[in-house]
Amino acid sequence: MLKIKYIVFLLAVSMQIRIRADNGGDTRSFTIDYDHDTFLMDGSPFRFISGSFHYFRALPDSWRQILRSMRAAGLNAVMTYIEWSTHEPTEGNYKWDGIADLEQFITLAEEENLYVILRPGPYICAERDMGGFPYWLLTKYPHAKLRTYDTDYLREVTKWYGVLMPRIQKYLYGRGGPVIMVSIENEYGFFSSCDVKYLSFLKNLTESYVQNDAVLFTNDAPDWLQCGTIPDVLATLDFGSTDNPARHWQMLRAYQPKGPLVNAEFYLGWLTHWSEPMARVAIEPLSNTLRLMLAQGANVNFYMFFGGTNFAFTAGANERDSGLIHADITSYDYDAPLDEAGDPTPKYYALRSVILEFFPDPGLPVPQKLPKMKIPPVQLNARGSLLSDAARDILAKYTISAERTLGFEALNQNSGFILYEADIPKELNQDPLALYVNNLHGRAYVHVNNQFVGVLSRDSGIFSLPISLGLGYRLQLLVENEGRINFDIPNDFKGILGSVTLDGNEVLNWTMTGFPLDDYSLIQNYIDRYVNYIAESRELASVRVFHGTFIIDAEEIYDTYVDPTGWGKGLIFINGFNLGRYWPLVGPQVTLYVPRHILLRGSNNIVVIEYQRNVQENATISFTDEPKLDGL
Ligand SMILES: *[C@@H]1O[C@H](CO)[C@@H](O)[C@H](O)[C@H]1NC(C)=O
Ligand SMILES: *[C@@H]1O[C@H](CO)[C@@H](O)[C@H](O)[C@H]1NC(C)=O
Repeated sequence: MLKIKYIVFLLAVSMQIRIRADNGGDTRSFTIDYDHDTFLMDGSPFRFISGSFHYFRALPDSWRQILRSMRAAGLNAVMTYIEWSTHEPTEGNYKWDGIADLEQFITLAEEENLYVILRPGPYICAERDMGGFPYWLLTKYPHAKLRTYDTDYLREVTKWYGVLMPRIQKYLYGRGGPVIMVSIENEYGFFSSCDVKYLSFLKNLTESYVQNDAVLFTNDAPDWLQCGTIPDVLATLDFGSTDNPARHWQMLRAYQPKGPLVNAEFYLGWLTHWSEPMARVAIEPLSNTLRLMLAQGANVNFYMFFGGTNFAFTAGANERDSGLIHADITSYDYDAPLDEAGDPTPKYYALRSVILEFFPDPGLPVPQKLPKMKIPPVQLNARGSLLSDAARDILAKYTISAERTLGFEALNQNSGFILYEADIPKELNQDPLALYVNNLHGRAYVHVNNQFVGVLSRDSGIFSLPISLGLGYRLQLLVENEGRINFDIPNDFKGILGSVTLDGNEVLNWTMTGFPLDDYSLIQNYIDRYVNYIAESRELASVRVFHGTFIIDAEEIYDTYVDPTGWGKGLIFINGFNLGRYWPLVGPQVTLYVPRHILLRGSNNIVVIEYQRNVQENATISFTDEPKLDGL
């Protein structure tokens, strides 16, 4: 009897395989067999070994190579967040090309024999500005309660999913594509709102597009499952090295007695803030934990397998005690197995050998480190401060006046600086006067009559400095948005959000000038038109623009690293591409990664916007062939 049953079963299986082959994939399905604690792919047990790689942290020209290196390590899947702010940077203006070409990323993953796991959020955290939310949500709805059952917020999420999801649907496994899983929210259990109705709404919305064509899941740290799980949605865990993963699985089993075990974020490294040591995570405990989890039959996603870079203004920040802030560094190297340049590290080879104990060797050549370039020091010429008339004329997006200061979001500005200017009342005759900025969300480069007198900042909790009489009567605060908080509380408005006082007297009647620095053509225009513009640059004013050119005549162009040692804090653009923020004064990151794909044979263009250091008029900047992430 048993035997007959077995033969019938085999027949059924082989018929199913034939049917599948015959009708071109109509029976494709990716589901969960809760009773047997496993995923089922087309009815057969399946498990994944996956790596996180966020397409928006690498240039598209490098995607295939990174994906192939992941496959060569034995991985069979890639996991990525989908970042709303990348795709809808300003309201209603969608971007799907270049670094935002999600469909191309999914297609390449499939071509490289990887399944795809999507995490559309819409909140993603990810150490990205505002946790991946577009800033304009706060312009449109200053009182929005993001990540809750707030009708304004939900209307925007519904609209966004209405644009995003139809693009994804054809890639779902059940429809013939590589996408096997789609997540709902992101570590929601940690969020204080614990809004069950919101999760239910988001589940219904996601399900209306995904239907049964892929598996829906949530992910949370083992201690935070209570507010994170959703009925009928697979709960998964996030945890790093441990000698006892079983303890975590037990915590999961309290909420989900059966079903496949998944570590959705097995931490191979960790995030790093400015002015703290670069986070490094030891290899051996990782290898041991991985071996234990795989022996327990778990599915594992490595966070991150490749970290990449927070180019331009995309890095986020974390809140510290008492409202202070700790901004994330530009590099998202994350101490991952593939480094920021996509090269394999010792961690790569170590994990690969563990993976191949459990999964078949895909038979691809093991990747090797690509060469890197040095470039001789490049001479830069000063082109004046943002305070100059020329910069106001060309780089400013708007100038408005109001009795009291307004923040970035209220002024519909995402990135860069707002220059706040007001007159110091002449009747104040203390010397010095105590300047105090209430509710400063950012870093204020304080000037009086174009003279730089100091910095106030939310990262150090310094909101006051003395102003001596006699410098002049024009008070000028250039306020930098250093990155919005990404973790837990995403409503992080930027700018001067409170009153500004001098010896306790509120300063009124402000002029605000916006410098988003997000349109390189304006910066190039400024440089071209003010070739001999030096007059104002001789002043002590901070936030100055420098420009230079350099030649590459090598046969083969490789990645390089720009080394701003000797500079203070600022931004670097090469050939119009914003590499992100540098801050070697505090580290630990010193060099910025320069992907080879933005470099040209022949003449290249570099612009440095130095915020605070009084760098020489004809300073140089150098390029090296090794990253320096552990400086200071
Ligand atoms: C989600 O759908 C279920 C089933 O239709 C329904 O009971 C529930 O109320 C919906 N949730 C929300 C927030 O609308
Ligand atoms: C601010 O401007 C208003 C309107 O122009 C004026 O009446 C007021 O005196 C000004 N206040 C200060 C403190 O300069």
